[in-house]
Parts: sequence; structure tokens; C-alpha cells
Amino acid sequence: MARVAIVTGGTRGIGEAISLALQEAGCTVAANYAGNAERAKAFTDRTGIATYRWDVSDHEACAEGVKQVEADLGPIDIVVNNAGITRDGVLAKMTYADWKDVIDTNLGGCFNMAQATFGGMVKRGWGRIVNIGSINGQAGQYGQVNYAAAKSGIHGFTKALAQEGAKKGVTVNAIAPGYIDTDMVAAVPQDVLAKIVAKIPVGRLGQANEIARAVAFLCSEDAGFVTGSTLSGNGGPHMY
Ligand code: CAA
Repeated sequence: MARVAIVTGGTRGIGEAISLALQEAGCTVAANYAGNAERAKAFTDRTGIATYRWDVSDHEACAEGVKQVEADLGPIDIVVNNAGITRDGVLAKMTYADWKDVIDTNLGGCFNMAQATFGGMVKRGWGRIVNIGSINGQAGQYGQVNYAAAKSGIHGFTKALAQEGAKKGVTVNAIAPGYIDTDMVAAVPQDVLAKIVAKIPVGRLGQANEIARAVAFLCSEDAGFVTGSTLSGNGGPHMY
């Protein structure tokens, strides 16, 4: 039977590519989104992938959202925690809301979604959780104490939860993308981005597909012995 997968932030950017890659791998996919209903509808029309709206930073909303997906599609086998936001700014200018929104969404979202799904995976003896980290969680980035802390937290969260799932058939891994050609990266000021791209040995931004196919592998049967790992896909500026 087809595995059921939830991809948070699954209608845009890297998440969209992941939803499509999992669909191509034979999964039944539920793509979660937070705000852009128009884009979500267009996504469903184009792909046939069902979309579900909830805010991953809201613990209750995640539990409710997962319940709805399970009622519609069946027990959840795979969760890709991709939903993420940026609120860049140097520490002196960063508001407490900028800090909290990014921590609650990017890192809190992983906790909320795992709590809603991990127990069922353990009970059924099979599961895959893939968390989308970032090069900026590994290396830090000027103007991103919030985002770097959240993404770095994701890498620790992954290794800790992997230990809880290991004996139960549930793997937990992370991918750390570098600068990928998405709306999020397009929002970086052009002059700043040009300097960042100049330091990427591969000489270009990454493509969402290049991350999505790696996620699909980590979600596959073949990846059963890979757990607690962080796979970097960043074009070479930080080899970690
Ligand atoms: N290291 C050291 N100094 C730096 C620096 C760096 N990397 N970047 C800028 N500075 C310096 C500048 O030279 C400048 O110095 P002077 O005042 O002496 O001239 C000073 O810091 C202020 O720089 P800005 O004018 O850029 O400051 P700002 O307040 O206008 O903007 C910022 C700050 C919003 C953080 C802006 O620099 C920015 O957007 N940076 C990009 C951050 C980034 O890479 N975000 C990634 C988003 S995508 C993503 O996160 C996906 C992923 O996972 C990879």
C-alpha cells in the first residue's frame, strides 16, 4: 500500500519539490501550507496533491491537522518538516517577535509535528521523519541569529529523536540545504546574495529538485539503515 506522507510548507519552494518527489516515489502526499490559499489551490489543480492549511507553530493545530489527514488518507508514515520562515536582521535590530516567530515555526514546528505522528509510526513499526535544516544552522550567518539557532536546533533534535526511533523502525534524518533558488533566497538583497553566490564552489544556487530527491531517498525503504544523519546539499561552501 502507498505510504502516506505529510510535507509541511509543501506547496512552495523546496517543499513543493519534495511533495512532487514523494508523489513520484509512489506516496500519497498531503501538502501542508500556512497562508497562501490561492497558490495552494493552484498546486492541487496542477498536481492532484491534497493541501491542508494549518500553522506548524501551533501545537494544537498540528494535532488537529494530522487527525484530518489521517481521516482522509490513512495513518502517517512519513513527515517532512520543511516549513520555515526568515526574519533576518542584525541582533540590535531584531525584535523579540522576529526571534520567537522563527524559533516557533522552524524548530517548534518539528516538535509539534513529531509529537502528532511519531507515536503512531512507532506503534506500526515503520516511519520516516526528515527535517530540513540549513547550512546557516551549521555555519551561522550574519543577520540570522534566530534562523541559525532554529536550524542548528533542528540538527540536534534530529539526532536525539533518531535515538528514540532506532529500535522501532523509525528513522529521523536532516538535510542541510545551502542557498536554493526559491522565493526565500530571492528575498535576500541582490548585492548580498551576489557575494554569497560568489563563495559557492559549484558556482550557482541549488535547485529545489536537488534537495527533494535526497529527501525522497531518506524516506525510502532503502534508507532504513540511515538515521540521525545530516546530509548537506550546499554546492560546497561549507563541507560538513
Ligand atoms: N559579515 C560581516 N559583516 C557584514 C556581513 C557579513 N556577512 N554582511 C554585512 N556586513 C556588514 C556590512 O558590510 C555593513 O558594514 P558597515 O556598516 O561597516 O558598512 C554592516 O554589516 C551592515 O550591513 P547591512 O547594510 O547589510 O545591514 P542591514 O541592517 O541593512 O541588513 C541584513 C542586515 C538584513 C542581515 C542583510 O545583510 C541581509 O539580508 N543579509 C542576508 C542574510 C542571509 O543570508 N539570509 C539568508 C536567507 S535565505 C535562507 O536562510 C535559506 C537558507 O537556509 C540558506
